[in-house]
Amino acid sequence: MSLEAIKFTRSAPYELTILDQLLLPYTSKYITINTIVDAYNAIKLMQVRGAPAIAIVGTLSVVVELSHFLNGKFQGQAHYDLQNIQNLKLQIIERLRFLITSRPTAVNLANAINEVIEIVIRSQATSVDELFPEILKFATDLYDDDFKNNFKLGENGKAWILNELEKDGFKGDFSILTICNTGSLATSGYGTALGVVRSLWSHSKEFQTASSEDEPATKKAKSDVIKLSKCYPLETRPYNQGSRLTAYELVYEKIPSQLITDSMVTYLISTLNKDPNSPPIKACVVGADRIVRNGDTANKIGTFQLSLICAKFGIKFLVVAPKTTIDLNTVHGDDIVVEQRPAIEFQNVSGGIIDPQTNQVVRDQTTGFAIAGKVGVAAPGIEVWNPSFDVTPHEYIDGIVTEDGVITKDSNGDFDLVSLFN
Ligand code: MRU
Repeated sequence: MSLEAIKFTRSAPYELTILDQLLLPYTSKYITINTIVDAYNAIKLMQVRGAPAIAIVGTLSVVVELSHFLNGKFQGQAHYDLQNIQNLKLQIIERLRFLITSRPTAVNLANAINEVIEIVIRSQATSVDELFPEILKFATDLYDDDFKNNFKLGENGKAWILNELEKDGFKGDFSILTICNTGSLATSGYGTALGVVRSLWSHSKEFQTASSEDEPATKKAKSDVIKLSKCYPLETRPYNQGSRLTAYELVYEKIPSQLITDSMVTYLISTLNKDPNSPPIKACVVGADRIVRNGDTANKIGTFQLSLICAKFGIKFLVVAPKTTIDLNTVHGDDIVVEQRPAIEFQNVSGGIIDPQTNQVVRDQTTGFAIAGKVGVAAPGIEVWNPSFDVTPHEYIDGIVTEDGVITKDSNGDFDLVSLFN
């Protein structure tokens, strides 16, 4: 069983709960989303985060809001006009437009909600009861497709990396870098870039089981096989998605890993890759919040500098994302609006409260959940700049992995993303 960021009951009474990611990894607690405003708040606060996950929660929140409204259980702010379908449609659209503003950079949310708006506009429904199944189908399809596509991303990324390393004449064990959290917690399950790490690790495990039962001669031959040995997740300051969430997933999945701070990457590569006894870093996999027409990619702050380091050391740099993250309407990365986060998310870090006597995380007596606390890490009064994302120019990206395969650049150094949609 992989971690579930989103739980949705697919029949009446429809219920949507999300794992509160502000409390992870110390506390595992689901909160209920009853309305579009609940989803807006949870997305804005980052109780749910990751481009695919926020799109799924956003669309499912429309389903639960309408369902509660139809059942007379709705306690929220919307007062839908059930007598007039045109008014009702306008009321839904207004709330959907508001939902999109919760997090502006990740295009998945805007793409999905704009599709719901299209469904509402084009629907021939004469009542909310008729409109409801159309929205339900779109939302559940989005959820299911994301899950199916994540496995394809994982397999496509794995095959590409193994093949490229083989073409380069590399043999044996290697290590991989990743930033932010792109796993089950950021998606419907399995993950995008972290899904590639998962698929690579499954491949390694298969091989290890086989080799341990083999005769020594075969073992020797198999030591040439290219396989993942270790993952290095970056802490991902300032919000620590790497140390809180990716590390949590890697521990949960028992994938050999070592956590590093964002500032350790260069030294790690320069030492590890010179050491003949350590599996060198050969690839870096990152997710995306928006990939524009020329391949420039918005992703978690720190991704751009990571791509520069990888280019310096000749490490393959892959962006892994479903096609729902591609924005062909934006031509160049300079046109991406990067969301600014509140200063407080930078000035504080969240940590589990540790009992000094036992050295264990303190737990709530009744629920058993670990207690998370906030610790200041910046001088009071200092101004901070806190962009949530940066934009990696396509020049530094070796490949873009989608559910349809891996796109690489042509001889002019250009990505052709348009062909993915033909
Ligand atoms: O601010 P976050 O945590 O939502 O940022 C998430 C990322 O940057 C991920 O890399 C991206 O959304 C892809 S998640 C599969």
